[in-house]
Amino acid sequence: MFMRKPVFMRALAAGVFTLSVASIGLAADLPANPVALGSPITEAQLADWDLIVAPDGDNLPDGSGTAAQGQMIYHQKCAACHGTAGEGASGSPALVGGSVSTTPPLLTVGSYWPHASTLFDYVRRAMPPTAPKSLSNTEVYQLTAYVLHLHGVVAEDFVLDKNTLPAVQMPNRDGFIDVSAN
Ligand code: HEC
Repeated sequence: MFMRKPVFMRALAAGVFTLSVASIGLAADLPANPVALGSPITEAQLADWDLIVAPDGDNLPDGSGTAAQGQMIYHQKCAACHGTAGEGASGSPALVGGSVSTTPPLLTVGSYWPHASTLFDYVRRAMPPTAPKSLSNTEVYQLTAYVLHLHGVVAEDFVLDKNTLPAVQMPNRDGFIDVSAN
């Protein structure tokens, strides 16, 4: 018995050593198989968030719409807060009318915003506030056209799309200085 014990101990020690090597091997594998939290985002999922439209219209989606087409949806989904003619209501801003030159100035989308693309971008991502991102791109083109038409910027049948929208001339387009260009 006395002679066998060290042999047993050596065997046990060798087993522990083998286990340790196995553990180190596992740990060494981790960087190649990182912490398994969630799964990589797909292009389709990313498309739901890649919505920012630049002032020059970059990243505007396909689709088109006119003010005539946007009138009904404006009355269904926007007028309760922004007024039937975009004049605003308690707690919700006027979208059209106003002027930057009065005292005090009345700053609206129509009188103040330098780029029509911002209207498309904002409405698509934020309005109506109870259901942001619920509008289709076609609806957003139609609503953008309707709000611009309420301010007299485009005609009722003017077709807004990713080519025509960046060329729309907003009344206050020269009212800002691009400090990044200096
Ligand atoms: C429940 C009320 C409500 C509804 C419905 C609603 N809005 Fe708004 N909207 C607001 C409020 C409040 C703001 C101001 C948000 C802020 O400044 O943070 C706003 C802001 C805006 C602005 C920016 C105005 C500015 O000068 O900053 C636009 C453009 C706009 N809404 C368009 C729309 C359109 C188009 C619809 C219909 C799809 C719509 N809204 C529906 C309440 C509403």
